[in-house]
Amino acid sequence: MEDRSDRKPFAIANWKMAMTISESLAFVRKFRAALGDLAHAVDVVLCPPYTALYAVAQTLAGGPIKLGAQNLCAAPGEAHTGEISAPLLADVGCEWVLLGHWEIRRRAGETDADVNHKIHAALRVGLRPILLVGEAATERGRAREVLTARLPPLFADCESGQVAQMAVVYEPEWTIGVQEPASPECVAAGCGFIRQWIRQEYGAETARAVRIIYGGSVTPGYAKGLLALPEVDGLGAGRKGRDPIAFAEIVRLIATAKGRARQIIA
Ligand code: PGA
Repeated sequence: MEDRSDRKPFAIANWKMAMTISESLAFVRKFRAALGDLAHAVDVVLCPPYTALYAVAQTLAGGPIKLGAQNLCAAPGEAHTGEISAPLLADVGCEWVLLGHWEIRRRAGETDADVNHKIHAALRVGLRPILLVGEAATERGRAREVLTARLPPLFADCESGQVAQMAVVYEPEWTIGVQEPASPECVAAGCGFIRQWIRQEYGAETARAVRIIYGGSVTPGYAKGLLALPEVDGLGAGRKGRDPIAFAEIVRLIATAKGRARQIIA
């Protein structure tokens, strides 16, 4: 079993193309009230749409909840109408950025090499990548083979110190936006394989540091079973990440399962 004593649990809310500025601020108000002191027990990252980043950054400033973006454009220079670069995200107050989401891979034809360029663009300005990786819908049941092929190009030219700063979400395409998440066996195998691969490529210290979580149709009802897995350091949510009460409950379950709740509450 992994020694996770020095790994802080992790939670992500990806709001996708939803949430106006006023809805975002209302979420933060309700979420904070529901969460109480648990905000210190888990690294919680809220990923609003670009239009709400500034407002959410202002309201989160100085507090424990972190701000993340949902994507970035790695192209050099400024002549990229409609795109947002890593320096602009750092400027607005993002600490983290989601990279490699299946919805972007599908819509923009994004490849593993494209995601790798984005990882380096983020790291260059001190933004911490949250890498999403998993099997496509057509690759279901072949996680080991798919991850073996996909992880090397995704992590190309990353150094161990950089990998230790990242978080990885095991999120198969077929688990997004459906009724139930992947089975605990599948989640344990996927997250476990990713950590094993990182250990093999970057050493035990890096593998011990990197947070590896699961995402895909996470709900409070399913969270407990997923969080019982030692391979999982936390959870990411789309739909339930937009509901402040449900997401606060997911964070509470993460803190409880990963052993941080008691010491923070005490
Ligand atoms: P979902 O979205 O929780 O609504 O399934 C997950 C995701 O796309 O990251």
